[in-house]
Amino acid sequence: MSAEAPLFARVVAWQRRAGRQGLPWQGTRDPYRVWLSEIMLQQTQVATVLRYYERFVARFPSVEALAAATLDDVLAAWSGLGYYRRARLLHAAAQVIVQQLGGCWPTDWEGWRALPGVGDSTAAAIAAFCYGQRVSILDGNVRRVLLRWWARGPAPDRPITARQLWARAQALLPASASAAEMAAYTQGMMDLGATVCTPRQPRCDACPLRSDCGAHASGTPEAWPQPAARPLRQTQDWWLLLPVRGDGAWWLQRRAARGIWAGLWTPPLLQGPASAQVPRECGALPAVAALHERAVVTHALTHRDLRLHRWVVEWAAAGDDAPALPGVQPDQGAWWSPSAALALALPAPLRVWFQNELSDSRTSSSR
Ligand code: ADE
Repeated sequence: MSAEAPLFARVVAWQRRAGRQGLPWQGTRDPYRVWLSEIMLQQTQVATVLRYYERFVARFPSVEALAAATLDDVLAAWSGLGYYRRARLLHAAAQVIVQQLGGCWPTDWEGWRALPGVGDSTAAAIAAFCYGQRVSILDGNVRRVLLRWWARGPAPDRPITARQLWARAQALLPASASAAEMAAYTQGMMDLGATVCTPRQPRCDACPLRSDCGAHASGTPEAWPQPAARPLRQTQDWWLLLPVRGDGAWWLQRRAARGIWAGLWTPPLLQGPASAQVPRECGALPAVAALHERAVVTHALTHRDLRLHRWVVEWAAAGDDAPALPGVQPDQGAWWSPSAALALALPAPLRVWFQNELSDSRTSSSR
């Protein structure tokens, strides 16, 4: 392939030669498999998705099975992939497909775009992979590849708008592109962005676009595209009190449907500066037999870090009543055996914590 061939043809040839091949959602036009993979890949890297994808498909083999499942079961299967809003929207979209579309898949970009959780770029990827539609994906990685390739001279005063970028990206797709070429191009652009045209250390010598790439010609490809000013990252402190009853049961409660960890199960949780005193104050309550502080862990979310202050509260009272502790929401929670608790939809750092508690309690009881 000559270096002067159009960008489209170079990317198609490169994808077939050097792009990602043989992933479990490739080589199929099954909308269920493609849609699920694109939702998982929205905010999670391929290597991680590979650990969850087949298990999820085995658990929910069709859109009908997914629509009929409870949200709890879907969240539990998603547990560990993070960004749980995606799982909630996936479940909602499955119900739209089954109940409103009579189980028929959308067949073009517009139809996919109308489903919950499917944005412009995801709809384009699905439409290209399943139907060969001529629509351009523009996720963050592809945006970077194109803005580098187009980079010339000093940065413009005003950044290009999303609509302008979309129109320019569409103009790169030849009218004669076949369905197979559209699929290869779409995958190729994403592969280039993820593996070659990376943010900090682009590997220009491996890039099929190097010969006429503006950012490469500038000598500092990593400086493109000019970054927008980023808001400062915030840190929040959360105090988690895990009540443990005499029989080993844990009190966990479900979080509200919106916000961080929406709909997931956690121990009672406190926020705000006054909360730092609360665990020690709990130690003075008659129903608290003992209090154990665990190491503070930091958990990174997209726009902030959570500093998790973890405490285990040995609750002396028996019975199924909610523990009378700060942060407890009696209507939202229950006592769970540790194994039942680990089957719930849990935020990833709490799952790790609970697994450690469980293995520590097994070790100490066998001593
Ligand atoms: N990100 C979103 N979709 C993807 C895909 N199909 N392959 C790799 N990364 C992706």
